Formats: sequence, C-alpha cells, structure tokens
Amino acid sequence: MEGTPQQPKNCSSLLEELVAEARKASPGGQVADYIPALAQVDADCVGIAVVELDGTVHTAGDANVPFSIQSISKIFGLALAMDRMDDTLWERVRMEPSGQAFNSIVQLEWEHGIPRNPFINAGAIVVADVLTSRYSSSKTAFVQYVRQLCSNEAIHADHDVWNSEKEHGNRNAALAYLMKSFGNIDSSVPEVLDHYFFQCSIAMSCVDLARSLGFLANKGIQPGTQQRVCDARSAHRINALLSTSGMYDQSGEFAFTVGLPAKSGVGGGIIAVVPDYGVICAWSPPLNRFGNPARAVEMITQFALRLGLSVY
Ligand code: DON
Repeated sequence: MEGTPQQPKNCSSLLEELVAEARKASPGGQVADYIPALAQVDADCVGIAVVELDGTVHTAGDANVPFSIQSISKIFGLALAMDRMDDTLWERVRMEPSGQAFNSIVQLEWEHGIPRNPFINAGAIVVADVLTSRYSSSKTAFVQYVRQLCSNEAIHADHDVWNSEKEHGNRNAALAYLMKSFGNIDSSVPEVLDHYFFQCSIAMSCVDLARSLGFLANKGIQPGTQQRVCDARSAHRINALLSTSGMYDQSGEFAFTVGLPAKSGVGGGIIAVVPDYGVICAWSPPLNRFGNPARAVEMITQFALRLGLSVY
C-alpha cells in the first residue's frame, strides 16, 4: 500500500465529499434497460459505504438503500463453487481476461465452450451449473450464504427483477445452450438460468455488500464473526480474478488508475477490496460503455487515490 488509510473521522467526511461531487457530476451513461425492471431505478441515487475489518462503518448518501446486485453476485457464486469443487473447476472456466463485453458470445465457440473467466456471463453460468448440480436447492443455499455473510436475514431476491431477467434473458440462454452443446453444462439449461437470474436479482445495500465481502480483505476470514469463509489461497485467487476481470473490458484501466480488486454490476454497484483494511461499495445506476457505473467508478477511484490504497 502507498499510504496509511486516514482516520475514521476524515474517512466519513471524504465520503460525504465524494457523494456531493458525484451528485454534481454528469451521469456518465444510461441506466441499464436491457433488463426492463432495472430501468425503473432512480438514476440519481448515489451512495457509498466503507466497512473496515474492525467493523467500523462509514457511509454517505444512499448507502443503506438496497439495489440489484447483478454481477456482483458472481463473487458469491464463485466462492461457493470453489468451496464445493476441487481444482477441476478451472478446466471448465479459465482465469484470463476476455477482452470482450461481459455478455459476448464470439469467443465461446472458438474456445470450445470454455469461458475465459468466472465474471463474464458465460463463466458465471458455468459456476451456476456447478451450484445447481451440487445443491438440492441452490437458490436457497445461495441466499442463505449471502445472509450469513452480511448478518442480515432480510436479504432476498427481487422477484420483479428476477422475472424480468427470465423474460429478457435470450443472450444468456444462447451462452448456456452453446456451452451445453460443448458438454460444459451438466444440469438442464432452464434450471441453470433460473439460478443465475435469481442470484443476479438479489437486492443489497452498499453497507450489506461491503460487510459481506470482508473475508476477501482478510485472507478468507469474515471479520465480523471470525468464521473462515474460504482458505487464504481461495481469497487470493478471487482477488486476482477481480483485479484482472472484475471490471470487464475496463479492468486494465481500473488496475492502472486505482489498483484494487473490484467488481461491478449493471444495477450500478461496485465493490472494491482493500486487503487488510476493508471493503468499499459505491452505487450509482447509470452505466458507461463498458457496463460499469460511471459515477461509482469515479467515487471509488477518488477514495483510493486520496487515501493511497493501491495494492501495487
Ligand atoms: O446477465 C446479465 O446480463 C445480468 N444479470 C448481469 C450482468 C452484469 O451485471 C454485468 N456487470 N456489469
């Protein structure tokens, strides 16, 4: 790390400043509407939360308002699948950046139905297949896992978003059927997609998300409960994948300017892991051309730069 994080008081006032700047800034893009239910979200919402390893929480703006976690759910799915499966998982999904959009299909045929990484949609659908074939009720197991991680029993899937994704999920269905044709999906495609859409439609606030992912900043141990979520090697691997692929085709730029493992979702959220310090989550629905939330990217960038948090 380039510097020592500021004291809590300064941290909270910095968050207030970042939210005020974000509210004045241009939206930087459009709210996702390819899933119609997501288009209902108020584009002006802006929130940020930081949860430190000692449990200290700093918030500003709409940090306690639940939103659709979308692709951020791919982190929980991957952690669960790595827990359930040995290293043969990496024969079904690789650990390389894709250089393509998150929902691209072009590479998948050339590469014989093996997705580049677990954070593009195709990779997360393989992970969803691992979960559906290893749990009798993967959706229940998933939501319980998330509830336990953030100590919030109220966490649930938003059924409007879930149904909307099911009705407009042709691209994901195409990815899943193509992978099935290569033998890389075991369960039935509708069952796998149902799980995948369910996990994407879970609603959480910035505080919930930052709290739930503390184990990634703490070598696999959840700071609040001191329970081991995964081994240190798995935490390292998830952080490495977040660094190279978590921000899709903007991952290189994000590493270059910010230098933190991070994951975005088309609901407008981003989480960033600061090893040995805590987790930041920012939310602002409008998305840039990479499918990343522009004002949330900027808030996390400024937070990391001003506190000197880069891991490099
Ligand atoms: O499958 C989809 O397209 C969405 N449920 C999730 C995509 C997503 O969040 C990409 N993130 N920036």
